[in-house]
Amino acid sequence: MDTNSAEVIQKTPYALMGGEEPLRRLVKRFYEIVDSDPMAAPIRAMHKDDLGPIQEALFEFMSGWLGGPALYSERTGTICLTEPHAAFEIGEPERDQWMHCMRRALDETEVSDEVKAMLEQPLLGLADFIRNV
Ligand code: HEM
Repeated sequence: MDTNSAEVIQKTPYALMGGEEPLRRLVKRFYEIVDSDPMAAPIRAMHKDDLGPIQEALFEFMSGWLGGPALYSERTGTICLTEPHAAFEIGEPERDQWMHCMRRALDETEVSDEVKAMLEQPLLGLADFIRNV
């Protein structure tokens, strides 16, 4: 395929990341870090023992959020994350723990510097929006 500037501009973050498999690896690494990084112990304690279902849910959510298939909204009928988080007290420390794990996961998987820079502010904005205390 020819590459020209118009095509590059039209690429979604999902496509720039390389699609489903790189995103799955990112989300898997994220929850491995949540599970093992001492900094994330408070947010780890909020989650169920089995991180498998939440890993799948975050993969589905991020797929749509990054401009790929809208798997989460197709399954749940919404992209609103307020209710699933309502049972937990999420303040600045928890937001920062979540971002710490996501930044580490971005660094430790094959995500390019370009995509990392593109996602930093939107991810921080989303994590801050989920804050409820
Ligand atoms: C700001 C810090 C955050 C904390 C402490 C946090 C914590 C949690 C917890 C404890 C759950 C429930 C897990 C369970 O059922 O075992 C959850 C669910 C979820 N979180 Fe977060 N979260 C945060 C931010 C985010 C962000 C930024 C995203 C999206 C990029 C996200 C996406 C999700 C999704 C998709 C679910 C599953 C919702 C469902 O059950 O349908 N979370 N989160």
